[in-house]
Amino acid sequence: MTTLDEFTIQQLRLYPQATGELSGLLRGIGLAAKMVSSLVNKAAIADILGEAGNINIQGESVQKLDQLANQTFINVLRNSIYCAGMVSEENDDIIVFDDPKNNQSKYVVLMDPLDGSANIDVNMPIGTIFSIYRRVSELGKPCTKEDFLQKGDNQFGAGYVLYGSSTMFIYGTKRHSVNGFTLDNSVGEFYLSNPHMQIPESGKSYSFDRKYYYSVSDKVRRYIDKCDYSEEGKEDNFSNKNYGSMVADMHRIFFKGGIFMYPSRIGKPKGKLRLMYECNPMAFLAEISGGQAIEESGRRIMDEQPENIHERSSIFIGSKNLINDFLEI
Ligand code: AHG
Ligand code: MN
Ligand code: MN
Repeated sequence: MTTLDEFTIQQLRLYPQATGELSGLLRGIGLAAKMVSSLVNKAAIADILGEAGNINIQGESVQKLDQLANQTFINVLRNSIYCAGMVSEENDDIIVFDDPKNNQSKYVVLMDPLDGSANIDVNMPIGTIFSIYRRVSELGKPCTKEDFLQKGDNQFGAGYVLYGSSTMFIYGTKRHSVNGFTLDNSVGEFYLSNPHMQIPESGKSYSFDRKYYYSVSDKVRRYIDKCDYSEEGKEDNFSNKNYGSMVADMHRIFFKGGIFMYPSRIGKPKGKLRLMYECNPMAFLAEISGGQAIEESGRRIMDEQPENIHERSSIFIGSKNLINDFLEI
């Protein structure tokens, strides 16, 4: 069995010019993920459930675990020397790890440290989503906003961690496709369990919060009606699966196929999800594993030029054929 560390270190054999910086960075993200997994597992007995008492830049109430997860990733990545800076859902501005070592790093990371916060208190699946870019600013100097405000297409790698019935680390690069690792708690390591993940071309489920059915656009409603349609007595309509955590919903789609939708709606012209650390990394993983990810207008998510680190985007993502069906409408 190959561990996450071994897996990334093996890549160094294939590319003699590689410096090992990326494997160091991934080791850091993996370590922080294990720390967060441990916090999530004991949350109810460690008095870390519930609200932290502040509101983030998104106007959402921050949970204690949101804060702890955020602090864990920031601390580990700052100490790891393999990352020049970070963007997090929970921090208004970019976080610059301004010290001589981190300034030499060619990578920056964007992340949603804890996705699906509403699931925390009820012991339902939650996750972490991350995106890795190569810097565009000069090495040796502190990183800048321009390093982060890059199109999704420029992502060097992306991944997510699912804190579910087991903890999984899913990570993808264009070169090595998407690979899934499962945490063995007794050893404290992620082991390669799902090499070369591929999204099924089609599927029979959609993730969408039906609460919003009446406030989305006509075309989205028409697509949902199509998913719900069945010939009498056939039950050939789609299942409606919605865990309320994009990580959990997408994880299911990576294995079983399907479509995840967070459209625009009245009063929320760009939906809710954040382009830089929710939509782009998931779009990257979906595309390199055979799926598609678009905005409501039909444009590819990863073609979008971001203007703001916290900007939002509508998203339709998942099995290729289902996205094509939506595009037809
Ligand atoms: P976060 O907990 O990081 O704020 O994100 C949760 C996201 C996503 O994972 C989920 O699918 C969606 O918010 C749920 O949105 P509603 O608040 O509209 O239910
Ligand atoms: Mn989120
Ligand atoms: Mn979050």
